Amino acid sequence: MTKRRLTPAEIEYNETRTNVLKRVDSSYVADAPFVFSNRIAVTAALSRMELFKKVLDVPGAIVECGVYKGNSLMLYMHLSMILEPYAINRSIIGFDTFEGFTSIDKNEDPSDINENMFSDTDESLIQDMINANDLVRPVNRIPRCELVKGDIVKTVPEFVKTRPDLVVAMLILDTDLYAPTKVALETFLPYMPKGAIVVLDEVAYRNFPGETSALREVFDLNKIELKRLPFDSSVGYFHI
Ligand SMILES: C[S@@+](CC[C@H](N)C(=O)[O-])C[C@H]1O[C@@H](n2cnc3c(N)ncnc32)[C@H](O)[C@@H]1O
Repeated sequence: MTKRRLTPAEIEYNETRTNVLKRVDSSYVADAPFVFSNRIAVTAALSRMELFKKVLDVPGAIVECGVYKGNSLMLYMHLSMILEPYAINRSIIGFDTFEGFTSIDKNEDPSDINENMFSDTDESLIQDMINANDLVRPVNRIPRCELVKGDIVKTVPEFVKTRPDLVVAMLILDTDLYAPTKVALETFLPYMPKGAIVVLDEVAYRNFPGETSALREVFDLNKIELKRLPFDSSVGYFHI
């Protein structure tokens, strides 16, 4: 594991941004998000747009395992509303505890993480914005985006039993942890047609090795064409 630390320049950047943010209210930030976004946030948005384009011609759900504050999930909802507004066979499904890390594996996950990480989120806020976007999108009588709350180790195997229509076009694995990644891979794989993609947010990343361990246990790495996006330091993906 490498040390998680900020450089003096990053600390100064963060302090400046915090001070600038104190000068404006939340609607100012919402109207001009890129003024306040850092490089990592803009890179993440660009990655998601590239990945979304890869499944535009694959019907089925975009499943995100690990939603946190919903930034990525809601970007996928926007992309779907903009690029494929009438795609009634596209759903965007986000799974999260909305209470942080609940399934840390002492052998597979890092020792310097704890259950409170990523617990600073509000599922109702994301749901309210899904509902608000539903007001203004075409064919809004058919749901496009949904949240499933709870530990993926339990919720994902239960969810697939309730959805005979399920096809997964894109499986995004972004819990950072071993156990939920493994369960999500094993459970959703039978629902993924050829051409669908699996995305891992932290692949081959030594500070969070759990996603990679789970990937190696489910797939023979010699048999998948694991790729990176050239501008993104941690995302990996492969086609089924
Ligand atoms: C890195 S964040 C996800 C970030 C999000 N995909 C984005 O791009 O904004 C990891 C999330 O995984 C969730 N998580 C971790 N383990 C989980 C589990 N076993 N079940 C459900 N959610 C889990 C955490 O609650 C956290 O919100």
